[in-house]
Amino acid sequence: MAKHEKRVIFTAEEIARQVELLASRISADYAGKEVVLIGVLKGAFIFLADLVRQLTIPIQLDFVRVASYGTGTESSGKIRITTDVELDLQGLDVLIVEDIVDSGLTTAFLKQHLATRKARSVKICTLIDKRERRAVSIPLEYVGLQLEKGFVVGYGLDCNEANRQLPGIYELIL
Ligand code: IMP
Repeated sequence: MAKHEKRVIFTAEEIARQVELLASRISADYAGKEVVLIGVLKGAFIFLADLVRQLTIPIQLDFVRVASYGTGTESSGKIRITTDVELDLQGLDVLIVEDIVDSGLTTAFLKQHLATRKARSVKICTLIDKRERRAVSIPLEYVGLQLEKGFVVGYGLDCNEANRQLPGIYELIL
């Protein structure tokens, strides 16, 4: 893969501030309840790890893995579950934790999939809301950062599996 130049879009400090704000909103909104956080692998792993450590409500945790972007920066257009949630979600409040919502197709698919598990509620928390290629209208209850366009890496997000470990978020100069 060709090496791309990168420029910082969100520093580690900006991300930490937004994660803290999200955690306090979620803790307030779900006060007195238990919430099941479902991390969407692999991109949400750092965000989820930082978020849960700031929540003040009881949680359960599970993961789902979907294949949507095969390689590179273009969507394959197909979404399928490769690792499914194992917890019984019946009657529970579920929060899907995403790294980034782009077209919205993955999130819409997951929301529908989890609704069939008879959860009491299914809401979305995404670190980044990227609007450029939104194809479906989907309510995003918790958004950390807004991004108009571009392909970003770092803080869990990758391009061909590279750059997940960067503490900040960078735009690739394609
Ligand atoms: P959507 O179905 O188009 O909303 O795509 C959602 C998924 O695409 C995310 O969970 C990411 O895995 C991937 N994705 C979309 N945009 C980016 C990006 O800028 N950087 C890294 N991954 C991205």
